[in-house]
Amino acid sequence: MGIVNILKIGGSVITNKDVEYSIRFDEMYRVAYEISKAYQLCTKQIILIHGGGSFGHATVVEHGNIESGQAITQIVWFMKELNTVFTDALNAYGVPALSLDTHAVFYRSRGGELECFSKPIEMALKKGVVPILFGDIIFGDNDTEILSGDEIAWKLSTIFKPSRILFATDVDGVYDKDPRDPRAHFLELVRIRDIEAIDTSLRKRIDVTGGIRAKLLYGLKYWNSDIREVLIFNGLKKDNIVKALCGKNVRGSRVVML
Ligand code: IPE
Repeated sequence: MGIVNILKIGGSVITNKDVEYSIRFDEMYRVAYEISKAYQLCTKQIILIHGGGSFGHATVVEHGNIESGQAITQIVWFMKELNTVFTDALNAYGVPALSLDTHAVFYRSRGGELECFSKPIEMALKKGVVPILFGDIIFGDNDTEILSGDEIAWKLSTIFKPSRILFATDVDGVYDKDPRDPRAHFLELVRIRDIEAIDTSLRKRIDVTGGIRAKLLYGLKYWNSDIREVLIFNGLKKDNIVKALCGKNVRGSRVVML
């Protein structure tokens, strides 16, 4: 099947995180266009995931819980609203993107294991269809929870091997301090084991799933030797997404285990 590209588009790339329920249409359409270029020119093996940005996170904060039926259905409703607009944009540019409901594909078992019914994703890839999942509410033996797009990406890398995980965010990559701090250093290489040294109090805005630190911590759990590359890069910079999908050089932080 060749290398499977797992691309997570951060919610901060396609939504305006400072304004509730607001889509950055210009960025979303540019991202969709870049994915279509990569699909035409380089690879049809793409699994897309997007985050919640000012849709999912805001709805969670508004409800203050994820237990009631009202909270669960509304969070999913808003995530699907965002997902539909993005899927439409991809379809309009000729990418056969197919939305798969994350809450129907993933489940958390009692022991904490994330279970995934991956057959539909596998069959989609075989047909050149681009499955698109999103950060979502999922059920589990113990509780309902918010499953971040980051964990989805890492988990899928244990199923689709070999794989390349690409995280498009609104910053160039990982810094040792808040990137707005002039003393912050950009890290071209991030060792997951060194994560304690990274000050990731980076996300002060609404983010119920933990920001960059959590992104890296999942790596500790899901790392596998079939992963070819993990790259955290800026999805707001033009052409970065098409380049990353085509395996070209992009400024970003490469994540390694050792
Ligand atoms: C969060 O997904 C989804 C919900 C809040 C329902 P992510 O955690 O992947 O979202 P971003 O990328 O940080 O916005």
